[in-house]
Amino acid sequence: MNQLQEAIQTRPHDWPQILILEDEPSVAQGLEMVLTEEGYAVVRAETGQSALDTFHRREFDVLVADLRLPDIDGMEVIRRVKRDQPDTGVIVITGYSTVASAIEAMKLGAYDYLPKPFTEEEIKSAVKGALSEKRECAVISEPEAGVAEEVPTPPEQLPEDKVRIAKAIGELRLDFAGHKDELIQMLQRVQNRLGYLPELALQEIARMTQTPPASVYGIATFYEQFRQHPAGKHLVRVCRGTACHVKGAERILNEIKTRFQLSPGQTTRNRKFTLETVACFGSCAIAPVLVVDETVKGRMNPSKTRMALEKLTANDDEQPSAGAPNKEKP
Ligand code: FES
Repeated sequence: MNQLQEAIQTRPHDWPQILILEDEPSVAQGLEMVLTEEGYAVVRAETGQSALDTFHRREFDVLVADLRLPDIDGMEVIRRVKRDQPDTGVIVITGYSTVASAIEAMKLGAYDYLPKPFTEEEIKSAVKGALSEKRECAVISEPEAGVAEEVPTPPEQLPEDKVRIAKAIGELRLDFAGHKDELIQMLQRVQNRLGYLPELALQEIARMTQTPPASVYGIATFYEQFRQHPAGKHLVRVCRGTACHVKGAERILNEIKTRFQLSPGQTTRNRKFTLETVACFGSCAIAPVLVVDETVKGRMNPSKTRMALEKLTANDDEQPSAGAPNKEKP
């Protein structure tokens, strides 16, 4: 019996199950020790194929995956795992971090991206976060059958964007010395100017502050105030709190996904709508709740949602965005 089979058969299955995909024995051993001490049941795989085979035999709560492997590309392993077991929390560990691979990992649904070397605290906190995200997702039901998972597509980049991005980067060079402690302020400046953080600006901030690009990207994705894509003209927020979930929030999200090819966190290619989800608007009595710009719409259903968004599409006179939300009569 090899080490992997032995591990699978001897670990108790009521502990959180972690699969470490890492071909470097010293790193794998260190990770196994740290995570086992935390009370996790850990299984190791040294190749992409052995990790996929193990996933075919059983489920894991979290996959900690290196990207450079002797056989399959680690990103491909993550893609297949997320396709077959989308609830698996994924943490990327890599000695070759780039902004592009961090973005790709996040698009595939990775929970965290840790450039090597990382500290014990960083990996412990990443695993903890991935497990708690998995638990939160488990509260929300699966999408209705028959609704295909959409491949996210970034909104169209308009020609004037390039000019605005170049100006924002020029401002950074003029107004900041490039100290590491200016990093957040620099991100905020770009976000204020452009409404989001384009990759070019992230790269420039990484260069100016001499910070690894993946760390800059990690900060940009950690804080909710930052966006990675331009926002749409209308912000559509769907409540996924318990009351709204029970009353059909997922059907509303599925309608938006099917009708407008829009998933949470995305913007339509024509930049008309950005979709977000929230935990609770405090209007549970009129669940399920949808907020379009600043207007709260209660007791919604898929067809009312579709009509509300189609009306906005037809009539571009949007509501003013300032001030407190106005409650519509349900
Ligand atoms: S749960 Fe949706 S408003 Fe409270």
